[in-house]
Amino acid sequence: MAVIGSGPAGIYTAEALVKQSAEPVAVDVLERLPTPYGLVRYGVAPDHTSIKSIANYLRRVLELPQVRFLGGVTLGEHLSVDDLLGVYDAVVYCTGAMVDRKLGIPGEDLPGSVAATDFVNWYCGHPDVDPGRFTLDTSEVAVIGVGNVAVDVVRVLAKTADELRATDVPHEVLERLGESQVKAIHMIGRRGPEHAKFTLKELRELGELANADVCVRPEEAVVLGGDFPRQVQGNIKVLQSWAAREPVGRPRRLDVRFWMRPVEILGAERVEGLKLERTRLSEDGRVVGTGEFETLPVGMVLRSVGYRSVPLPGVPFSERTMTVPNEAGRVREREYVAGWLKRGPTGVIGTNKSDAAETVRTLLADLDGRERVGHDGIGALLAARGVRPVTYDEWLAVEAAEAELAKTLGRGERVKLVGLEAMLRAIRP
Ligand SMILES: Cc1cc2nc3c(=O)[nH]c(=O)nc-3n(C[C@H](O)[C@H](O)[C@H](O)COP(=O)(O)OP(=O)(O)OC[C@H]3O[C@@H](n4cnc5c(N)ncnc54)[C@H](O)[C@@H]3O)c2cc1C
Ligand SMILES: NC(=O)c1ccc[n+]([C@@H]2O[C@H](COP(=O)([O-])OP(=O)(O)OC[C@H]3O[C@@H](n4cnc5c(N)ncnc54)[C@H](OP(=O)(O)O)[C@@H]3O)[C@@H](O)[C@H]2O)c1
Repeated sequence: MAVIGSGPAGIYTAEALVKQSAEPVAVDVLERLPTPYGLVRYGVAPDHTSIKSIANYLRRVLELPQVRFLGGVTLGEHLSVDDLLGVYDAVVYCTGAMVDRKLGIPGEDLPGSVAATDFVNWYCGHPDVDPGRFTLDTSEVAVIGVGNVAVDVVRVLAKTADELRATDVPHEVLERLGESQVKAIHMIGRRGPEHAKFTLKELRELGELANADVCVRPEEAVVLGGDFPRQVQGNIKVLQSWAAREPVGRPRRLDVRFWMRPVEILGAERVEGLKLERTRLSEDGRVVGTGEFETLPVGMVLRSVGYRSVPLPGVPFSERTMTVPNEAGRVREREYVAGWLKRGPTGVIGTNKSDAAETVRTLLADLDGRERVGHDGIGALLAARGVRPVTYDEWLAVEAAEAELAKTLGRGERVKLVGLEAMLRAIRP
């Protein structure tokens, strides 16, 4: 079997194939990067070390004798769907949701208007983003969206470099964060506290920031009605308690705003401001503008309004749902899908486990009694294309080099190597 993508969905799929299959199975996990774990490595915030330790569980799956990691192999570049179907019995696509959703407002493409996907990739040391990409040389920043990614981004902006020193943030990024001029961060929700997507634990952490005062306007914290799920009630309570707080003069200030939507990003050459419009809900529950405007003097706008999947060449894709259409994980004969590519960019890491298990149940039921075509032909196919995949042991060499770097720099357990070249040097000195 081939699993494409080594994020949580890919690795849980590999695990489910081994566990659920009644007959012996061999699973190759093909990944475009030299490193496994997808967003666990390049998404989960660096200061959330306990969540990052899920990698220790995922690692045990890659170490199963039935599972093989093949890094540096991209579906659509090195291999086609037909190539895969020629050597495997079945293929499961688990390539996640790698790009940002657009706001669709004027000024969105100005320098200084940044997708959270890029900013997260930057502080996580993703090889697609140059560590010199961002300079935090503005005193005010707006973060659009009130989901958990927005909360991560706000926390990284609010903390001092010292607070992040023990994390795996690349050293060049840590230096940039240390030079940050940011004094005010505005987090903007287009609906009310009761509609915010962040979870209570993540919200509470913002109230515990040592380097920033958190402010909520009392009039924006008002919530009518009361029959909300517990998580939402918790969010409302926390936000209302912040509305009653006085700032105590911490170096940075976080303003959490509600009922404001972005209508234009202002500036001639680069971002100089963000125009917001006050909102309300229409009779049918839509967000509508009230015609009352406000401009924030920000030099950077971080758009954190969700992720979206990209189509894989030769694989069906719905432009409406931005996912691969499927029935319980089945796409077409011998082709399956799991994770964010299957159900969209929502849910926590664990959600992908049950999701992958469903896909694997469908796959194994379909293959039951069928003639097998799979054989160990991927090595020859890749060699013919001049591709030498990164093995699991070679990935361990990257991990070791990251631990060594942390030691040299006097930082925590590891510091990310940045760029493919640095990783490949660690693998094949
Ligand atoms: C910024 C951020 C922070 C998050 N933090 C948390 C958190 O703290 N806790 C939590 O529970 N959840 C968190 N989540 C959610 C969690 O990360 C997702 O639920 C999960 O990663 C989705 O898994 P996936 O395998 O579908 O996608 P991904 O994790 O994105 O994995 C997809 C993999 O496919 C690879 N790939 C892509 N295209 C190709 C190709 N063509 N060929 C080969 N390989 C390819 C990618 O390189 C990647 O490794 C976070 C999400 C984001 C965006
Ligand atoms: N610690 C964690 O557990 C953790 C950390 C990070 C991510 N995650 C998970 O990863 C998933 C993705 O998170 P996410 O934050 O990217 O997405 P999300 O939870 O869907 O939040 C997106 C936010 O953007 C807003 N938005 C969307 N379009 C907008 C527009 N045009 N203008 C203004 N605001 C707009 C949404 O508001 P509306 O509601 O009004 O649309 C919402 O507040 C979530 O399931 C999340 O829980 C978990």
